[in-house]
Amino acid sequence: MAVKKKITFEITVFNDLKELESTEAELLNRAVAVRENAYAPYSDFKVGAAVLLENGEIVTGNNQENASYPSGLCAERVAIFYAGAKFPGVQIKTIAISAASANHKVDSPAAPCGNCRQSISEYEFKQKKPIKLLLMGEVGDIIQCNSIADILPLGFNSTFLK
Ligand code: THU
Repeated sequence: MAVKKKITFEITVFNDLKELESTEAELLNRAVAVRENAYAPYSDFKVGAAVLLENGEIVTGNNQENASYPSGLCAERVAIFYAGAKFPGVQIKTIAISAASANHKVDSPAAPCGNCRQSISEYEFKQKKPIKLLLMGEVGDIIQCNSIADILPLGFNSTFLK
């Protein structure tokens, strides 16, 4: 017999950076700062990502666009791939993301795209420990997600390849 199941998850919404604990506020500030260095001449949409590792290191990245559009890469993947390259095997605690547009004020949190969710999920699955996300626009609320799996339910992972 068919069974209906409900998938739910919790987020925390902060109204202001001041409501975050200092390490996390600093991480978001790093995402905001690195956002400005994004190379986004085609979309004018700049994203910054700051990855906090278990060893206390912070690795940052921003979106890098290309005249051949699909060859560009999102900020989140630039940052986590850089973290994986620089600190292989070191666990990821938190990723802070901030987005801004030259065309309008981004006043709600920008969540990672599907490809980035999948890429972040690879690391979360590998380390068997949730990766926390802190999401912000230019202004407005900040959303905290406790795990990437929450925003990628029924995800694909390496167990299917065994
Ligand atoms: N972008 C990111 O960097 N992260 C996301 O999660 C969504 C989109 C970038 C890709 C592209 O350079 C620009 O934003 C517009 O899609």
